[in-house]
Amino acid sequence: MTNRTYFIRTFGCQMNEHDSERAAGVLETMGYRPAPDPESAGLVLFNTCAIRENADNKLYGQLSHLKPLKLADPAKTIVVGGCLAQKDQGAIAARAPWVDVVYGTHNMGSLPQLLAQADSAALPVVEILEHTQMFPSALPARREVRHHAWVSISIGCDNTCTFCIVPLLRGPEKSRMLGDIVAEVCELVADGVTEVTLLGQNVNSYGRDLVRADPGPGRRNRTLFAELLHALGEVPGLERVRFTSPHPKDFTSDVFAAMRDVPNVCEQLHLPLQSGSDRILRRMQRSYRSSRYLDLVAEARATIPGVAISTDVIVGFPGETEDDFDDTLRVAGAAAFDAAFTFKYSKRPGTAAVSLDGHVAAAVMDQRFLRLAELTRSLSAASHARQVGTVQELLIEGPSKTDPARMSGRTRENRLVHVPATAAARPGALVNARLTDAAAHYLLGEVTDAPAGRAVPTAPPPRTLPDGQNGDLTAVLPAARP
Ligand code: 5AD
Ligand code: SF4
Repeated sequence: MTNRTYFIRTFGCQMNEHDSERAAGVLETMGYRPAPDPESAGLVLFNTCAIRENADNKLYGQLSHLKPLKLADPAKTIVVGGCLAQKDQGAIAARAPWVDVVYGTHNMGSLPQLLAQADSAALPVVEILEHTQMFPSALPARREVRHHAWVSISIGCDNTCTFCIVPLLRGPEKSRMLGDIVAEVCELVADGVTEVTLLGQNVNSYGRDLVRADPGPGRRNRTLFAELLHALGEVPGLERVRFTSPHPKDFTSDVFAAMRDVPNVCEQLHLPLQSGSDRILRRMQRSYRSSRYLDLVAEARATIPGVAISTDVIVGFPGETEDDFDDTLRVAGAAAFDAAFTFKYSKRPGTAAVSLDGHVAAAVMDQRFLRLAELTRSLSAASHARQVGTVQELLIEGPSKTDPARMSGRTRENRLVHVPATAAARPGALVNARLTDAAAHYLLGEVTDAPAGRAVPTAPPPRTLPDGQNGDLTAVLPAARP
Protein backbone atom coordinates (compact mmCIF):
# COMPACT_ATOMS: atom_id res chain seq x y z
CA MET A 1 0.00 0.00 0.00
CA THR A 2 1.31 3.48 -0.81
CA ASN A 3 2.14 5.83 2.04
CA ARG A 4 -0.53 8.53 1.75
CA THR A 5 0.84 10.90 4.39
CA TYR A 6 2.22 14.39 3.82
CA PHE A 7 4.58 16.86 5.41
CA ILE A 8 4.61 20.54 4.39
CA ARG A 9 7.44 22.99 5.12
CA THR A 10 6.55 26.63 4.60
CA PHE A 11 9.09 29.35 3.87
CA GLY A 12 8.34 33.08 3.91
CA CYS A 13 5.29 35.18 4.58
CA GLN A 14 1.72 34.75 5.83
CA MET A 15 0.49 34.48 2.26
CA ASN A 16 2.55 31.30 2.04
CA GLU A 17 1.21 30.04 5.39
CA HIS A 18 -2.24 30.48 3.92
CA ASP A 19 -1.27 28.74 0.68
CA SER A 20 0.18 25.84 2.70
CA GLU A 21 -3.10 25.40 4.57
CA ARG A 22 -4.81 25.25 1.19
CA ALA A 23 -2.28 22.73 -0.14
CA ALA A 24 -2.90 20.61 2.98
CA GLY A 25 -6.65 20.91 2.37
CA VAL A 26 -6.26 19.75 -1.25
CA LEU A 27 -4.07 16.81 -0.15
CA GLU A 28 -6.52 15.81 2.57
CA THR A 29 -9.41 15.74 0.10
CA MET A 30 -7.23 13.28 -1.87
CA GLY A 31 -7.01 11.04 1.20
CA TYR A 32 -3.61 12.16 2.53
CA ARG A 33 -3.08 12.55 6.29
CA PRO A 34 -0.41 14.63 8.09
CA ALA A 35 2.94 13.05 8.98
CA PRO A 36 5.17 14.39 11.79
CA ASP A 37 8.36 14.73 9.70
CA PRO A 38 9.73 14.50 6.14
CA GLU A 39 11.41 11.16 6.87
CA SER A 40 8.16 9.30 7.54
CA ALA A 41 5.95 11.20 5.05
CA GLY A 42 4.96 9.67 1.72
CA LEU A 43 4.78 13.17 0.23
CA VAL A 44 6.96 16.14 1.17
CA LEU A 45 5.93 19.58 -0.04
CA PHE A 46 8.13 22.68 0.21
CA ASN A 47 6.15 25.88 -0.18
CA THR A 48 8.88 28.31 -1.16
CA CYS A 49 9.70 32.00 -0.87
CA ALA A 50 11.81 34.16 -3.18
CA ILE A 51 11.74 37.53 -1.47
CA ARG A 52 15.38 37.45 -0.36
CA GLU A 53 18.37 35.47 -1.51
CA ASN A 54 18.78 33.54 1.75
CA ALA A 55 15.31 32.05 1.19
CA ASP A 56 16.65 30.58 -2.10
CA ASN A 57 19.73 29.20 -0.41
CA LYS A 58 17.69 27.65 2.38
CA LEU A 59 15.45 25.85 -0.10
CA TYR A 60 18.31 24.33 -2.09
CA GLY A 61 19.99 23.29 1.18
CA GLN A 62 16.83 21.57 2.38
CA LEU A 63 16.20 19.93 -0.98
CA SER A 64 19.63 18.34 -0.85
CA HIS A 65 18.71 16.82 2.54
CA LEU A 66 15.77 15.13 0.82
CA LYS A 67 17.95 13.47 -1.84
CA PRO A 68 19.09 10.51 0.32
CA LEU A 69 15.48 10.02 1.50
CA LYS A 70 14.31 9.83 -2.10
CA LEU A 71 17.14 7.45 -3.04
CA ALA A 72 16.24 5.18 -0.09
CA ASP A 73 12.53 5.31 -0.94
CA PRO A 74 11.84 6.09 -4.62
CA ALA A 75 8.07 6.00 -3.91
CA LYS A 76 8.39 9.16 -1.79
CA THR A 77 6.89 12.13 -3.67
CA ILE A 78 8.72 15.45 -3.46
CA VAL A 79 6.82 18.60 -4.41
CA VAL A 80 8.09 22.18 -4.63
CA GLY A 81 5.56 25.00 -4.94
CA GLY A 82 5.25 28.75 -4.42
CA CYS A 83 7.28 31.83 -5.26
CA LEU A 84 10.71 30.30 -5.81
CA ALA A 85 9.17 27.64 -8.03
CA GLN A 86 7.56 30.44 -10.03
CA LYS A 87 10.88 32.33 -10.22
CA ASP A 88 13.23 29.46 -10.99
CA GLN A 89 10.79 27.38 -13.04
CA GLY A 90 12.78 24.66 -14.78
CA ALA A 91 15.90 25.40 -12.74
CA ILE A 92 14.62 23.57 -9.65
CA ALA A 93 14.08 20.38 -11.63
CA ALA A 94 17.58 20.78 -13.15
CA ARG A 95 19.30 21.44 -9.79
CA ALA A 96 17.30 18.84 -7.87
CA PRO A 97 16.14 16.17 -10.34
CA TRP A 98 14.88 14.02 -7.43
CA VAL A 99 11.91 16.41 -7.21
CA ASP A 100 8.67 14.98 -8.65
CA VAL A 101 6.46 18.05 -9.06
CA VAL A 102 7.18 21.78 -9.37
CA TYR A 103 4.20 24.15 -9.40
CA GLY A 104 3.96 27.95 -9.46
CA THR A 105 2.05 30.50 -7.41
CA HIS A 106 -1.10 30.11 -9.50
CA ASN A 107 -1.26 26.33 -9.80
CA MET A 108 -2.18 24.91 -6.43
CA GLY A 109 -5.60 23.88 -7.66
CA SER A 110 -3.90 21.54 -10.17
CA LEU A 111 -2.03 19.58 -7.47
CA PRO A 112 -4.17 16.42 -7.86
CA GLN A 113 -3.57 16.27 -11.64
CA LEU A 114 0.14 17.07 -11.26
CA LEU A 115 0.56 14.29 -8.68
CA ALA A 116 -1.26 11.85 -10.95
CA GLN A 117 1.03 12.79 -13.86
CA ALA A 118 4.11 12.44 -11.64
CA ASP A 119 3.11 8.86 -10.83
CA SER A 120 3.72 7.84 -14.42
CA ALA A 121 6.46 10.32 -15.41
CA ALA A 122 10.19 9.67 -15.24
CA LEU A 123 11.07 13.39 -15.14
CA PRO A 124 9.80 16.11 -12.79
CA VAL A 125 6.38 17.47 -13.76
CA VAL A 126 6.52 21.27 -13.94
CA GLU A 127 3.50 23.59 -14.20
CA ILE A 128 3.90 27.36 -13.97
CA LEU A 129 1.12 29.73 -15.06
CA GLU A 130 1.62 33.48 -15.52
CA HIS A 131 -1.78 34.53 -14.18
CA THR A 132 -4.83 33.18 -12.46
CA GLN A 133 -8.35 34.26 -11.72
CA MET A 134 -8.60 31.84 -8.83
CA PHE A 135 -8.14 32.80 -5.20
CA PRO A 136 -6.48 30.28 -2.93
CA SER A 137 -9.43 30.71 -0.58
CA ALA A 138 -11.60 28.95 -3.16
CA LEU A 139 -9.74 25.72 -2.28
CA PRO A 140 -10.38 23.68 0.86
CA ALA A 141 -8.07 24.47 3.79
CA ARG A 142 -6.69 22.50 6.67
CA ARG A 143 -6.14 25.19 9.28
CA GLU A 144 -3.20 24.89 11.64
CA VAL A 145 -5.14 26.60 14.43
CA ARG A 146 -8.84 26.15 15.10
CA HIS A 147 -9.64 29.70 16.16
CA HIS A 148 -7.61 31.64 13.57
CA ALA A 149 -7.85 31.83 9.78
CA TRP A 150 -6.08 33.67 6.99
CA VAL A 151 -8.43 35.14 4.40
CA SER A 152 -7.05 36.39 1.13
CA ILE A 153 -8.79 39.54 -0.08
CA SER A 154 -6.61 40.22 -3.10
CA ILE A 155 -3.77 38.57 -4.94
CA GLY A 156 -0.86 40.12 -6.82
CA CYS A 157 0.49 43.65 -6.71
CA ASP A 158 0.32 46.59 -9.12
CA ASN A 159 3.20 48.50 -7.52
CA THR A 160 6.72 48.74 -8.80
CA CYS A 161 8.89 48.93 -5.69
CA THR A 162 12.30 48.53 -7.28
CA PHE A 163 13.61 45.99 -4.72
CA CYS A 164 10.62 43.68 -4.86
CA ILE A 165 10.17 40.52 -6.86
CA VAL A 166 6.58 39.89 -5.77
CA PRO A 167 4.83 41.58 -8.71
CA LEU A 168 6.86 39.38 -11.09
CA LEU A 169 5.86 36.24 -9.22
CA ARG A 170 2.31 36.90 -8.10
CA GLY A 171 1.11 38.96 -11.08
CA PRO A 172 -1.12 42.05 -11.17
CA GLU A 173 -3.49 42.89 -8.34
CA LYS A 174 -6.87 41.26 -8.44
CA SER A 175 -9.43 41.76 -5.69
CA ARG A 176 -11.92 39.24 -4.53
CA MET A 177 -15.61 40.19 -4.39
CA LEU A 178 -16.54 41.69 -1.03
CA GLY A 179 -19.55 39.40 -0.66
CA ASP A 180 -17.37 36.32 -1.24
CA ILE A 181 -14.97 37.43 1.50
CA VAL A 182 -17.76 38.06 3.99
CA ALA A 183 -19.38 34.72 3.10
CA GLU A 184 -16.08 32.90 3.67
CA VAL A 185 -15.59 34.65 7.01
CA CYS A 186 -19.14 33.66 8.09
CA GLU A 187 -18.38 30.02 7.22
CA LEU A 188 -15.12 30.19 9.16
CA VAL A 189 -16.88 31.62 12.22
CA ALA A 190 -19.47 28.82 12.00
CA ASP A 191 -16.48 26.45 12.07
CA GLY A 192 -15.09 27.92 15.32
CA VAL A 193 -12.89 30.76 14.02
CA THR A 194 -12.88 33.90 16.18
CA GLU A 195 -9.97 35.78 14.58
CA VAL A 196 -9.20 36.41 10.92
CA THR A 197 -6.22 38.05 9.26
CA LEU A 198 -7.02 39.60 5.89
CA LEU A 199 -4.20 39.09 3.44
CA GLY A 200 -3.12 41.05 0.39
CA GLN A 201 0.14 42.49 -0.93
CA ASN A 202 -1.44 45.91 -0.65
CA VAL A 203 -4.68 45.58 1.30
CA ASN A 204 -5.73 49.20 1.18
CA SER A 205 -5.86 49.31 -2.58
CA TYR A 206 -8.35 46.45 -2.21
CA GLY A 207 -11.29 46.78 -4.53
CA ARG A 208 -9.97 49.50 -6.85
CA ASP A 209 -10.15 47.07 -9.75
CA LEU A 210 -13.69 46.12 -8.73
CA VAL A 211 -14.79 49.76 -8.62
CA ARG A 212 -13.13 50.40 -12.00
CA ALA A 213 -15.01 47.45 -13.46
CA ASP A 214 -18.31 48.47 -11.83
CA PRO A 215 -18.47 52.01 -10.41
CA GLY A 216 -22.01 51.05 -9.22
CA PRO A 217 -24.60 53.58 -8.12
CA GLY A 218 -24.97 54.46 -4.47
CA ARG A 219 -21.53 53.40 -3.26
CA ARG A 220 -20.89 55.09 0.06
CA ASN A 221 -18.15 57.64 0.25
CA ARG A 222 -15.64 55.09 1.60
CA THR A 223 -12.92 53.01 0.06
CA LEU A 224 -13.91 49.40 -0.46
CA PHE A 225 -11.31 48.33 2.11
CA ALA A 226 -12.97 50.46 4.81
CA GLU A 227 -16.31 49.11 3.58
CA LEU A 228 -14.99 45.58 4.04
CA LEU A 229 -13.87 46.30 7.62
CA HIS A 230 -17.33 47.69 8.42
CA ALA A 231 -18.98 44.64 6.83
CA LEU A 232 -16.82 42.27 8.91
CA GLY A 233 -17.79 44.26 12.01
CA GLU A 234 -21.31 42.93 11.49
CA VAL A 235 -20.34 39.24 11.59
CA PRO A 236 -21.63 37.81 14.91
CA GLY A 237 -19.04 35.76 16.79
CA LEU A 238 -16.07 37.27 14.95
CA GLU A 239 -13.96 38.70 17.78
CA ARG A 240 -10.87 39.98 16.00
CA VAL A 241 -10.00 41.22 12.53
CA ARG A 242 -6.42 41.97 11.50
CA PHE A 243 -4.95 42.81 8.11
CA THR A 244 -1.57 42.87 6.41
CA SER A 245 -0.05 44.77 4.71
CA PRO A 246 -1.20 48.24 3.75
CA HIS A 247 0.95 50.60 1.66
CA PRO A 248 1.51 54.10 3.08
CA LYS A 249 0.79 55.73 -0.28
CA ASP A 250 -2.74 54.28 -0.38
CA PHE A 251 -3.69 54.76 3.24
CA THR A 252 -6.91 56.71 3.69
CA SER A 253 -8.45 58.24 6.83
CA ASP A 254 -11.60 56.13 6.49
CA VAL A 255 -9.51 53.05 7.32
CA PHE A 256 -8.23 54.68 10.53
CA ALA A 257 -11.84 55.61 11.34
CA ALA A 258 -12.93 52.00 10.74
CA MET A 259 -10.14 50.78 13.03
CA ARG A 260 -11.48 53.11 15.71
CA ASP A 261 -15.21 52.52 15.14
CA VAL A 262 -15.52 48.83 14.30
CA PRO A 263 -15.13 47.00 17.61
CA ASN A 264 -13.68 43.76 16.26
CA VAL A 265 -10.99 45.45 14.13
CA CYS A 266 -7.84 45.24 16.24
CA GLU A 267 -5.67 48.19 17.21
CA GLN A 268 -2.74 46.87 15.24
CA LEU A 269 -1.20 48.51 12.20
CA HIS A 270 1.65 47.08 10.16
CA LEU A 271 2.84 49.93 7.95
CA PRO A 272 6.02 49.20 5.97
CA LEU A 273 8.39 52.19 6.01
CA GLN A 274 11.26 50.57 4.02
CA SER A 275 13.49 53.65 4.41
CA GLY A 276 13.39 56.96 6.24
CA SER A 277 15.38 58.74 3.53
CA ASP A 278 13.35 60.55 0.88
CA ARG A 279 16.16 60.06 -1.63
CA ILE A 280 16.10 56.31 -1.08
CA LEU A 281 12.30 56.14 -1.06
CA ARG A 282 12.42 57.78 -4.50
CA ARG A 283 14.94 55.22 -5.73
CA MET A 284 12.76 52.48 -4.29
CA GLN A 285 9.77 53.95 -6.16
CA ARG A 286 7.83 54.14 -2.95
CA SER A 287 5.74 57.17 -3.78
CA TYR A 288 5.45 58.66 -0.28
CA ARG A 289 8.04 60.65 1.63
CA SER A 290 9.08 60.39 5.28
CA SER A 291 6.96 63.38 6.37
CA ARG A 292 3.83 61.81 4.87
CA TYR A 293 4.73 58.57 6.61
CA LEU A 294 5.11 60.29 9.99
CA ASP A 295 1.84 62.15 9.43
CA LEU A 296 0.13 58.77 8.95
CA VAL A 297 1.70 57.45 12.15
CA ALA A 298 0.55 60.56 14.04
CA GLU A 299 -2.96 60.24 12.58
CA ALA A 300 -3.12 56.55 13.51
CA ARG A 301 -2.04 57.24 17.09
CA ALA A 302 -4.42 60.17 17.44
CA THR A 303 -7.39 58.28 15.95
CA ILE A 304 -6.97 54.79 17.40
CA PRO A 305 -6.29 54.82 21.16
CA GLY A 306 -3.52 52.39 22.09
CA VAL A 307 -2.72 51.35 18.51
CA ALA A 308 0.50 49.36 18.09
CA ILE A 309 2.43 50.15 14.93
CA SER A 310 4.94 47.79 13.36
CA THR A 311 6.97 48.17 10.20
CA ASP A 312 9.37 46.68 7.66
CA VAL A 313 12.69 48.40 6.99
CA ILE A 314 15.39 47.55 4.46
CA VAL A 315 18.99 48.61 5.14
CA GLY A 316 21.68 48.90 2.51
CA PHE A 317 19.46 49.64 -0.49
CA PRO A 318 21.67 50.64 -3.47
CA GLY A 319 22.89 54.21 -3.04
CA GLU A 320 22.16 54.36 0.72
CA THR A 321 24.70 56.67 2.39
CA GLU A 322 25.36 57.15 6.12
CA ASP A 323 23.13 60.25 5.97
CA ASP A 324 20.31 58.24 4.37
CA PHE A 325 20.68 55.59 7.02
CA ASP A 326 20.65 58.23 9.77
CA ASP A 327 17.34 59.42 8.32
CA THR A 328 15.98 55.90 8.70
CA LEU A 329 17.06 55.80 12.35
CA ARG A 330 15.56 59.20 12.97
CA VAL A 331 12.22 58.36 11.36
CA ALA A 332 12.05 55.03 13.20
CA GLY A 333 12.68 56.82 16.49
CA ALA A 334 10.13 59.52 15.71
CA ALA A 335 7.54 56.91 14.73
CA ALA A 336 8.25 55.12 18.05
CA PHE A 337 7.55 51.77 16.41
CA ASP A 338 6.13 49.13 18.70
CA ALA A 339 7.77 46.39 16.61
CA ALA A 340 9.88 46.21 13.46
CA PHE A 341 11.02 43.64 10.92
CA THR A 342 14.38 44.64 9.53
CA PHE A 343 16.06 43.25 6.44
CA LYS A 344 19.36 43.62 4.64
CA TYR A 345 18.78 44.54 1.01
CA SER A 346 18.97 41.44 -1.14
CA LYS A 347 19.56 41.60 -4.91
CA ARG A 348 16.68 39.94 -6.76
CA PRO A 349 17.47 39.30 -10.43
CA GLY A 350 14.70 40.74 -12.59
CA THR A 351 13.99 43.70 -10.28
CA ALA A 352 14.89 47.29 -11.20
CA ALA A 353 17.14 47.86 -8.16
CA VAL A 354 19.68 45.36 -9.46
CA SER A 355 20.81 47.82 -12.12
CA LEU A 356 20.97 50.86 -9.83
CA ASP A 357 24.41 52.20 -8.94
CA GLY A 358 25.92 52.35 -5.46
CA HIS A 359 25.45 48.80 -4.20
CA VAL A 360 26.38 48.80 -0.52
CA ALA A 361 29.23 46.60 0.75
CA ALA A 362 28.16 43.64 2.87
CA ALA A 363 30.19 44.79 5.89
CA VAL A 364 28.53 48.23 5.83
CA MET A 365 25.13 46.61 5.49
CA ASP A 366 25.86 44.31 8.46
CA GLN A 367 26.90 47.20 10.63
CA ARG A 368 23.82 49.29 9.73
CA PHE A 369 21.60 46.28 10.29
CA LEU A 370 22.96 45.89 13.83
CA ARG A 371 22.51 49.57 14.60
CA LEU A 372 18.91 49.52 13.38
CA ALA A 373 18.19 46.29 15.26
CA GLU A 374 19.52 47.88 18.45
CA LEU A 375 17.19 50.85 18.00
CA THR A 376 14.09 48.80 17.15
CA ARG A 377 14.78 46.48 20.06
CA SER A 378 14.86 49.37 22.49
CA LEU A 379 11.71 50.83 20.91
CA SER A 380 9.81 47.55 21.39
CA ALA A 381 11.15 47.15 24.92
CA ALA A 382 9.90 50.67 25.72
CA SER A 383 6.54 49.92 24.12
CA HIS A 384 6.18 46.72 26.15
CA ALA A 385 7.24 48.46 29.35
CA ARG A 386 4.38 50.95 28.88
CA GLN A 387 1.88 48.06 29.04
CA VAL A 388 2.96 46.80 32.46
CA GLY A 389 0.21 47.25 35.06
CA THR A 390 -2.62 47.30 32.50
CA VAL A 391 -5.27 44.61 32.04
CA GLN A 392 -5.66 43.46 28.45
CA GLU A 393 -7.70 40.93 26.53
CA LEU A 394 -5.69 37.91 25.38
CA LEU A 395 -6.58 35.34 22.78
CA ILE A 396 -4.76 32.22 23.96
CA GLU A 397 -2.84 30.51 21.14
CA GLY A 398 -1.28 27.50 22.85
CA PRO A 399 1.57 26.35 25.08
CA SER A 400 4.59 28.65 25.21
CA LYS A 401 7.35 27.45 22.87
CA THR A 402 9.98 27.81 25.58
CA ASP A 403 8.14 26.98 28.83
CA PRO A 404 5.42 24.30 28.94
CA ALA A 405 4.19 25.68 32.29
CA ARG A 406 3.01 28.76 30.42
CA MET A 407 0.42 29.48 27.75
CA SER A 408 0.99 32.14 25.09
CA GLY A 409 -1.58 34.57 23.84
CA ARG A 410 -1.84 37.81 21.89
CA THR A 411 -3.33 41.12 22.91
CA ARG A 412 -5.53 42.95 20.45
CA GLU A 413 -2.43 44.97 19.51
CA ASN A 414 -0.72 41.66 18.71
CA ARG A 415 1.69 41.69 21.61
CA LEU A 416 2.87 38.27 22.73
CA VAL A 417 2.03 37.54 26.39
CA HIS A 418 2.84 34.43 28.42
CA VAL A 419 0.56 33.51 31.35
CA PRO A 420 0.64 30.55 33.77
CA ALA A 421 -1.06 27.48 32.24
CA THR A 422 -4.37 27.40 34.13
CA ALA A 423 -7.69 25.83 33.10
CA ALA A 424 -8.99 29.22 31.94
CA ALA A 425 -6.03 29.77 29.60
CA ARG A 426 -6.90 27.09 27.04
CA PRO A 427 -6.17 27.49 23.32
CA GLY A 428 -8.77 29.70 21.62
CA ALA A 429 -10.02 31.22 24.91
CA LEU A 430 -10.40 34.98 25.32
CA VAL A 431 -9.23 35.93 28.79
CA ASN A 432 -8.18 39.11 30.54
CA ALA A 433 -4.63 39.29 31.81
CA ARG A 434 -2.88 41.74 34.06
CA LEU A 435 0.52 42.43 32.51
CA THR A 436 3.28 42.19 35.08
CA ASP A 437 6.69 42.15 33.31
CA ALA A 438 8.06 43.29 30.00
CA ALA A 439 10.91 42.16 27.76
CA ALA A 440 11.79 43.32 24.25
CA HIS A 441 9.84 40.55 22.49
CA TYR A 442 7.19 39.48 24.98
CA LEU A 443 5.31 40.30 28.17
CA LEU A 444 4.40 38.21 31.20
CA GLY A 445 0.99 38.36 32.82
CA GLU A 446 -1.61 36.57 34.87
CA VAL A 447 -5.24 35.83 34.09
CA THR A 448 -7.63 38.05 36.04
CA ASP A 449 -11.36 38.74 36.39
CA ALA A 450 -10.70 42.48 36.21
CA PRO A 451 -12.08 44.20 33.12
CA ALA A 452 -9.69 45.04 30.30
CA GLY A 453 -8.79 48.69 29.93
CA ARG A 454 -7.63 48.92 26.39
CA ALA A 455 -6.61 52.51 26.03
CA VAL A 456 -3.01 52.43 27.16
CA PRO A 457 -1.71 55.97 26.85
CA THR A 458 0.69 56.28 23.93
CA ALA A 459 1.51 59.90 23.31
CA PRO A 460 1.44 60.88 19.64
CA PRO A 461 5.08 60.72 18.60
CA PRO A 462 6.98 63.94 18.13
CA ARG A 463 7.76 64.67 14.49
CA THR A 464 11.41 65.05 15.39
CA LEU A 465 13.09 63.79 18.49
CA PRO A 466 14.04 66.61 20.85
CA ASP A 467 17.46 66.04 22.36
CA GLY A 468 17.44 64.00 25.52
CA GLN A 469 13.87 62.78 25.15
CA ASN A 470 13.01 59.09 24.94
CA GLY A 471 15.55 58.02 27.56
CA ASP A 472 17.98 55.41 26.32
CA LEU A 473 16.94 55.86 22.68
CA THR A 474 19.12 58.91 22.33
CA ALA A 475 22.08 56.62 22.83
CA VAL A 476 21.41 54.83 19.57
CA LEU A 477 19.86 57.60 17.50
CA PRO A 478 22.08 59.83 15.39
CA ALA A 479 22.52 63.42 16.51
CA ALA A 480 20.01 65.71 14.81
CA ARG A 481 21.40 67.21 11.62
CA PRO A 482 20.87 70.91 10.99
N1 5AD B 1 15.65 42.75 -0.03
C1 5AD B 1 15.40 42.91 1.28
N2 5AD B 1 14.14 42.98 1.79
C2 5AD B 1 13.12 42.91 0.93
N3 5AD B 1 11.78 42.96 1.13
C3 5AD B 1 11.17 42.82 -0.05
N4 5AD B 1 12.09 42.67 -1.05
C4 5AD B 1 13.30 42.74 -0.45
C5 5AD B 1 14.64 42.67 -0.93
N5 5AD B 1 14.91 42.54 -2.24
C6 5AD B 1 11.17 43.19 2.44
C7 5AD B 1 10.34 44.46 2.45
C8 5AD B 1 8.94 43.95 2.49
C9 5AD B 1 9.10 42.66 3.26
C10 5AD B 1 7.98 41.70 3.12
O1 5AD B 1 10.29 42.12 2.75
O2 5AD B 1 10.65 45.18 3.62
O3 5AD B 1 8.03 44.84 3.12
FE1 SF4 C 1 6.52 44.35 -3.25
FE2 SF4 C 1 5.97 46.97 -3.10
FE3 SF4 C 1 4.09 45.21 -4.00
FE4 SF4 C 1 4.79 45.18 -1.39
S1 SF4 C 1 3.81 46.91 -2.50
S2 SF4 C 1 4.55 43.40 -2.75
S3 SF4 C 1 6.97 45.70 -1.49
S4 SF4 C 1 6.03 45.74 -5.01
